[in-house]
Amino acid sequence: MSTWHTVAKIQDIPAGAGRTFCVDGKLIAVFQIDDAIYAISDLCPHMGASLGEGDVEDGAVTCPWHAWRFCVKDGSWLDSPKSPLKAETYAVRVEADDILVEIPTDRDADGQPHDSADGPSADEASPDETSRGGAPHGD
Ligand code: FES
Repeated sequence: MSTWHTVAKIQDIPAGAGRTFCVDGKLIAVFQIDDAIYAISDLCPHMGASLGEGDVEDGAVTCPWHAWRFCVKDGSWLDSPKSPLKAETYAVRVEADDILVEIPTDRDADGQPHDSADGPSADEASPDETSRGGAPHGD
């Protein structure tokens, strides 16, 4: 299960940069790169710095605390591409000037699937990776 939330207007995100928004109790970093919008968890998977405050270059955001770099498109840790460590990603769509982010409702606040015995398994709760990626906008 998931819910789409309107988080910002296109003009709220400077081209080539990110901004952080609180959505349904989660901090989400939203980036505008090459006329597309991407959303990842704002919390750096290393020690929790705000990735939305990081510098962005060539589709990578640099964490402001220890300079680890993450891909804003798929959340991968670019300094160690084989590592399973990554920033959680969120599906995005743009309607007129509104940026909407899909927030799974079957995850805990830390982005992990619920451990409920009668809930979906971790595999079933995993988002469809094909739904991830930038949402182009046409302004
Ligand atoms: S908190 Fe982000 S690299 Fe350390």
